[in-house]
Order: sequence, then C-alpha cells, then structure tokens
Amino acid sequence: MNSLLSLASSALFLQGASALGYGFNGSDSQFYGQSPPVYPSSIGHGTSNARWVSAYQRATALADQMTIEQKVNMTRGYTGTCTGNSGAVPRFGVPPLCLSDAPDGIRGQEFVSAFPAGIHVAATWDRTLMYQYGKALGSEYRGKGINVALGPVAGPLGRVVRGGRNWEGLSNDPYLAGAGMGEITRGIQDAGVMATSKHFLLNEQEYRRRPSSIGEAFSSNVGDRALHELYVFPFMDALRADAAAVMCSYQRANNSYSCQNSKLLNGLLKTELGFEGFVRMLDWTLVMPDGGYWGQNLTDAVKNGSVSAERVTDMATRILASWYYMGHDNGFPAPSIYPGTTKHEPVDVQADHAALIREIGAASTVLVKNVNNTLPLQRPTFLCVYGYDATVPSMPWQDASRYGGGYAVNFGWQTFAGTLITGGGSGSNAPPYVVSPFQAIQERLRQDRGINPTYTPYVNADACLVFINAYASESFDRLSLTDESSDRLVGNVAANCSNTVVVIHSTGIRNVDAWIDNPNITAVLYAGLPGQESGNSLADVLWGDVSPSGKLPYTVAKEEADYGAVLSSSLSFDQFPQDDFTEGLFIDCRAFDRDEIEPRFEFGFGLTYTTFEYAKLNVQMDMGANTDPLPDPEVAVISGGHPALWETVATVTCALSNTGRVTASEVAQLYLGIPSSAEFDTPARQLRGFQRTPVRPGETRTVSFALTRRDLSVWDTTVAQWRLQAGTYKIHVGASSQDLRLEGNLEISSS
Ligand SMILES: *[C@@H]1O[C@H](CO)[C@@H](O)[C@H](O)[C@H]1NC(C)=O
Ligand SMILES: *[C@@H]1O[C@H](CO)[C@@H](O)[C@H](O)[C@H]1NC(C)=O
Ligand SMILES: *[C@@H]1O[C@H](CO)[C@@H](O)[C@H](O)[C@H]1NC(C)=O
Ligand SMILES: *[C@@H]1O[C@H](CO)[C@@H](O)[C@H](O)[C@H]1NC(C)=O
Ligand SMILES: *[C@@H]1O[C@H](CO)[C@@H](O)[C@H](O)[C@H]1NC(C)=O
Ligand SMILES: *[C@@H]1O[C@H](CO)[C@@H](O)[C@H](O)[C@H]1NC(C)=O
Ligand SMILES: *[C@@H]1O[C@H](CO)[C@@H](O)[C@H](O)[C@H]1NC(C)=O
Ligand SMILES: *[C@@H]1O[C@H](CO)[C@@H](O)[C@H](O)[C@H]1NC(C)=O
Repeated sequence: MNSLLSLASSALFLQGASALGYGFNGSDSQFYGQSPPVYPSSIGHGTSNARWVSAYQRATALADQMTIEQKVNMTRGYTGTCTGNSGAVPRFGVPPLCLSDAPDGIRGQEFVSAFPAGIHVAATWDRTLMYQYGKALGSEYRGKGINVALGPVAGPLGRVVRGGRNWEGLSNDPYLAGAGMGEITRGIQDAGVMATSKHFLLNEQEYRRRPSSIGEAFSSNVGDRALHELYVFPFMDALRADAAAVMCSYQRANNSYSCQNSKLLNGLLKTELGFEGFVRMLDWTLVMPDGGYWGQNLTDAVKNGSVSAERVTDMATRILASWYYMGHDNGFPAPSIYPGTTKHEPVDVQADHAALIREIGAASTVLVKNVNNTLPLQRPTFLCVYGYDATVPSMPWQDASRYGGGYAVNFGWQTFAGTLITGGGSGSNAPPYVVSPFQAIQERLRQDRGINPTYTPYVNADACLVFINAYASESFDRLSLTDESSDRLVGNVAANCSNTVVVIHSTGIRNVDAWIDNPNITAVLYAGLPGQESGNSLADVLWGDVSPSGKLPYTVAKEEADYGAVLSSSLSFDQFPQDDFTEGLFIDCRAFDRDEIEPRFEFGFGLTYTTFEYAKLNVQMDMGANTDPLPDPEVAVISGGHPALWETVATVTCALSNTGRVTASEVAQLYLGIPSSAEFDTPARQLRGFQRTPVRPGETRTVSFALTRRDLSVWDTTVAQWRLQAGTYKIHVGASSQDLRLEGNLEISSS
C-alpha cells in the first residue's frame, strides 16, 4: 500500500483553523459555488459548562499576551516525536501537543493494547462497555504522553455498504453510532486525553476521497435534513460529551472541501452545535510536515489583512482552552514514543485491559444461526478447525524493511492472510500479541483431553469449525461483500461434515447466502474485529461461558443488489465528481422497511442461548415535559446543540424475563415511528433506545428508555431547527428491528 506514507503524514498536522474564508469567495465556479457561505467563524466562548468557562478564562488571558507568530505556531505541525506535533510557545510554557492514531489502540507503538474496532464495540449495544473501552483507550494514550487521541469515528457513518473505513466507525444507524460516540468520548476524556470526533463530515467512501491527477475529490451532496438526522446526529453526542477536538474530512461537500467548508465548520459545528474545541485539518495537500500551507502564510495573511487577527486568536484560544480543559497544563507526562531502532526503557500502558478486550470481544459476537442448539458446544473432545482465518501469520506487523523499523504501522491483514482482528490503514492498531481462534480452541480441548488432529477424518468429529473473513482498509472500498474462495471453503467443509460451525471476522457486512441454508451448517457467528484476545473471546461464547448477546449493527441482505444504489462507492472519472445522496434518510433498515425487502439478518438481530419474554409496555410523558414545536430561541446553545434537545420528553418501560435455562444479557431495542406527512416523510421505524440487561433464568427485570426531544424530532429545513411535531408516535420494543414484541403509542400535543 503506497498510500501508507501519505496516511502517516496526513496525521501530522493540526490546525485550529477552519474555513478561513481565504481566497474563495464563491466565484470559483464549479469548485466553491454550491455550499452556502457562512461567515464569520463563531468565536469559541466557553459557555457550555463551568469547566469550559474556567478553561476559556485562562486561555483568553494567555492568548492575549501572545504575538501572531506564537498563536499561528500552535496551529501548525512540526516533525517530531509523535505522529503529529503542534508548534509550541516556549515563552509561555506551552509545549507541543502530541497527537496519535488510532481509534482502536495506539498505532505503531509497543506495550499498548489492540482493542476491538469501532464496529465491533457497537455490536455490544452496551453503553457501559463503550464507556469502559474509551476510558481504557484514553489511559493508554495518557500513559504514553499523547495529548490527542485521533478517534472515535462517526464519519464514515456507513452509508456505502462496501465503504473501506466503515469498521472504524460504529454503525450506519445514527442513534447507535451516537451512543458510542458519546460514551467513548466521555471515556477517553475522563482518562485525561482529548478525544477527536472524526471525520467531519460526509467522508462516506474512499474512492477519490482526495484530489488526484484525475481531478478533484468527490463531492458528497446531501440535503440539510439527512445531513442532520443521519450524518451530524452522532457527532452531536460526541460534542455533548465535550469533545475537545474535531477532525475535518478529505472530500468535498456540495463542492466545497470539508476542511474549508464554512457551512459545515462555521455554520454547523461552531454555531449550531456550539463546539468549544479546535478543528484539526487533515487535508494533506493543504498542510505539510514542516510548516504547512498555513504556517508562515497564515501569519502573512493576517499581516496583509486577508485573515482577521480575531480568527487566528480564536484558533489559538480554542487550542489553549482544550489544553486547560483537560488539565494538560498540569503534570501531563512527556511523550514516551520511541523509534523501534533505539534501545530504551519500555513504557507499558496495557494495565489489565486484556480482560476488558476479551469481555467486549465476547459481548459483541453475534450468533445468527444455531440449529438444534449446536452451540454452546457440550464439552467437545474432537473438533476440526479449518480456514485461513483461524491462525495468526508470522508477525507481518513488524516488517521493518517496509516501515523503516519500529512497530506496527498496520495490522489489518488481507483476506486469506490470517485471522482478522482489525482493518487496515491508519485506523489499525499494534497488538502486543494475538490469541488466535485456533490457539484458544486447542487450549480448551487440551484441558478436556480432547483432540484436534491435523489430518481430519470428519466422520467422528463433534463439530467442524471453519473460519473466514472479510478485509477492508482505508484508501479503498470493498469490491464485494463475499469472496468465492471463502464460500467454496465453507461449502467444502459442510459437504463433508454435518455439524459445521462458521465463524466470520469481518470489517462490515458479509453476505452468506451462498451457504446459509445448507443443513450441515448448524451455527454461524459474526465475530467482528475483536482485537488481541480474539480467540479467547470466541471460545468463551463457543463453550457457553458467555451467552451471546451481540446484535448486528447493520442489515445483512440476501443479495448485494438489495442495498440498491448505496451498495458501492460512486465511480467517476469526471474532473469534478459528484455523489448525490438521493436516498436521503433511507439507508440500511430504513430502506429495507420502505421497500419491503426481506433481509437475511436484520439490523439489531442476534440469537442467544436462552429465551426472553417481553411484557408490560408502559409509555409515559415526563412530568412537565416541554412539547413546544421548536426549542426556545432565547436559550444559548452549548456543546452538542440546543440544550432542550437533550431533555427527556417521555419514558418507556417494559418487563424483560429470562424464560430459558442460562443467564444471559438481552439487548432490548426501542424503535420509534415518527409521524409522517407530506412535509416530513419519515422512516417507518428508527432506533431510538436500547438497553443491554443481564437476566438470570426465571428473573424479570424492568428496562427503561428515555426519549429526548432530539429522539422525537425531525430537522425542519425551512426554519433550520429540530421540530417536535404534534401527533401520534408509534413505539415498538423488541429483540431486533423486525422481532418487535410490544407496541404502543405516544401522543404529543403542542404545549
Ligand atoms: C471574488 O474573487 C475574484 C478573484 O478571485 C474577484 O474577481 C471577484 O471580484 C470577487 N468577488 C467578490 C464578490 O468579492
Ligand atoms: C448542500 O446543499 C443542500 C441543498 O441546497 C443543502 O440543503 C445543504 O445544507 C448543503 N450542505 C452543505 C454542507 O453545503
Ligand atoms: C514554534 O514551535 C516550535 C516547535 O515546537 C518551537 O521550536 C518554536 O520555538 C516555536 N516558535 C515560537 C515563535 O514560539
Ligand atoms: C504558502 O503559500 C504558497 C502559495 O501561495 C505555497 O506555495 C507554499 O507552499 C505555502 N506554504 C509555505 C510554508 O510557504
Ligand atoms: C496575503 O498573504 C497571503 C499569504 O502569503 C497571500 O496568499 C495573499 O495573496 C495575500 N493577500 C494580499 C491581498 O496581498
Ligand atoms: C435437529 O433435530 C431434529 C429433531 O431431533 C432432527 O430431526 C433434525 O435432523 C436435526 N437437524 C440437524 C441439522 O441436526
Ligand atoms: C469435501 O467435499 C468436497 C465436495 O464434495 C470435496 O471436493 C472435498 O475433497 C471433500 N474433502 C475435503 C477434505 O474437503
Ligand atoms: C452433510 O454432511 C454429510 C456427511 O456428514 C454428507 O454426506 C452430506 O452430503 C452433507 N450434506 C450437504 C447438503 O452437504
């Protein structure tokens, strides 16, 4: 992958800059004609909460003493110890900020953990695990002296089914993705490290995401309603958790590059969403290792009046405020980042995170087929294991000749090359070790004096386990959701073994219709991208120590064509390629519902080793809930948007009973039917609540879902506000987006 170097470089630069309004005034025809100009850029005021207030007071006081050169210095990148290093201001004791990839573990370093990827964390549907994930990640960054962690990801959201980076993010459902963005951001920052919400916004495909010899990058053209209800939605949760940094994206939006798109950065992010932190510019044609386009040029531009001094002061103040907000002015460790070629004292930041990684890996494993209770395995003594994905290849991540020494740059193995624990590119992590499925299975067998012969006559086996995967990486999109070799492998095993269990490690949707109905295939598991404890997590589920409770964070179709136009990235050789998001809100399950397409496995689906019963739905308006159609315009916006959007309007509860024989967690899900009209065409049902609850056999627990104003609202493009309509809202609660067990209504009348 030649692009590796540029990927690494791309992480080098930071900017408090955004939408400088520099040089582009709308007359540049095709480039910059369509995204509305929104100027000036909102000044960060630090009014969201007491902590920001005090951070801004200190930041403003310090910035006031600085020269333009010093302010600009903080907004630019330097080559240094870390993947990215900002300029320092030694005169005032401001050190360079150290930035590093990746969202699922520190990239390219030693004695760090390889966590599950975002899409796998989403499959837990467990807010507590999401938070703990963020906290553990954050503590590793802090331990290494890294100020800014470059994650979590909600862009791409996952609109394009074959998108190359979907796995770095959480789910193509904005509510589930938002829950993850909020919890992970909170976790990272509670550990004392700045979280970066990325990529803002609409980087939904890898193909032509950047300018090239063919022409400009793709332009994502999306109307304001889908922009808010799908793509901005999860970023709101991250900002609500006070995200200190946001990274803009490579491609264009309405023909204007995202990193200079004033509508996105000034209008949406800094004004509507009240963002207090700083925007990091990623576009590597604009910013270079030493200096960057905006280094000296920015100073010159202020001096000649092209850019206002206030804009640069705001850039510097936002960076300083984030620094104070996180307490990085006080006792933050110096970076311990070493080139692999230098002898040094190792700094081990792994703590006991392996246990959490193992727990998340098991909690997010999704069981989709389990005929005649094949799983859990009943103390098996004879298992056959097949497939390239069962084992770990020999250390490809330490290929020093390729990466100039040092540790993992990449750990996404291509399909066929070994077990997949994360994807490829800058979102990849650096595992200290990998417990392969083969290793963990052998260990279990050894304990029970079982056998796993290398030459396998299938006939006497308790079960045959076959491992396949589906790889994806930054820089390119997937070409298919299946591959023939893997399907043939599964078919061959199943043709000879009447109890075949298929395990899929995948970067996203992997279709299975080539073999799913084969009666010899008795169990199928989507095991995601589980990180370093892969085999242990899986064995915990196979042997029944953990009853599966993971649910699909996407829809698996019967045929690829069922996804319609959003199956593949848009292909174009035009100089100004355009991608119109004409499907609007209707991606994934929203589209399947509307078009009455039966999925193979629906969004939110996943089996367990027990049975659950749902009862006693109760829908209750909250006392004194404000149901005005629009949030009070007199109330100031805080980080995340208008504060009223987060107020609970109604609460839904139900009873959840475990009617089977083993303890298990169930993810109860709430789907909401927002009133549809000619003005607001709404999807039949949208996820607006979930709660993962552990329940013992015979036990009944109450599950509760709080519905906020945002959950119930639609984006009204005319008034540019979230509108709470009066009317009847359908409430469905169940075990998946199709397995809806309870139904009720919520009546909203205008107050
Ligand atoms: C925009 O910039 C061009 C030069 O790039 C200039 O000719 C034109 O007058 C400017 N238009 C406005 C409205 O400032
Ligand atoms: C793109 O254009 C559409 C249609 O005019 C508009 O609704 C949307 O807000 C625009 N988005 C951006 C980022 O300019
Ligand atoms: C800018 O940052 C560099 C790198 O940290 C530092 O060496 C230099 O002194 C800084 N310049 C100013 C004007 O503070
Ligand atoms: C400044 O801008 C010029 C073009 O105006 C560009 O060639 C140069 O690379 C930029 N960066 C620096 C550090 O001068
Ligand atoms: C101001 O300085 C910038 C950066 O050097 C340059 O690109 C721009 O053309 C200058 N503008 C004027 C009006 O001189
Ligand atoms: C499942 O169990 C039933 C009843 O024992 C049996 O008829 C059927 O063949 C079994 N199916 C498989 C795939 O083993
Ligand atoms: C299993 O079945 C397939 C298809 O019938 C056959 O080609 C293959 O050789 C058999 N044996 C093994 C070990 O895969
Ligand atoms: C199932 O496996 C048995 C061997 O155990 C084989 O004889 C049979 O043909 C297989 N069935 C299918 C549909 O592959």
